[in-house]
Amino acid sequence: MLIRPDEIQKVANMFFNAVHEDEIELINQLYDALKANDIEKADKLMDELLVDVEDHFSTEEAMMKEADFFGYPMHKADHDKMRKEIKEVYNRWKENKDPKRVIDFLENKLVPWLKLHVAQWDSITAMHIGD
Ligand SMILES: [Fe+2]
Ligand SMILES: [Fe+2]
Repeated sequence: MLIRPDEIQKVANMFFNAVHEDEIELINQLYDALKANDIEKADKLMDELLVDVEDHFSTEEAMMKEADFFGYPMHKADHDKMRKEIKEVYNRWKENKDPKRVIDFLENKLVPWLKLHVAQWDSITAMHIGD
């Protein structure tokens, strides 16, 4: 396990919280598979993570647009930055299946980013959208 669910701030929208909890679960599964050097399982989970993250981001973006949230461009820009990084890590994984690179990405990029992003952007967006 890399991250406990309570390490991610709860926000004012239950749907956002549910999406975040599912993502934490998936990140932990992927992390454990990589640590166990289970390449086949990690490969499936990498595919799932890519889809899951895109789903997570695009759902939030649709809800922000619908609610006419003023911070939409900035919140989306932060998603776009991570979309690009995940895609790069994903492509490199498909080339060399090196668990170390993905472990490093999860530990030092994705998880710290997620904590900060939820605290900075998802929390204010959820307050605007409500529950
Ligand atoms: Fe989020
Ligand atoms: Fe977000």
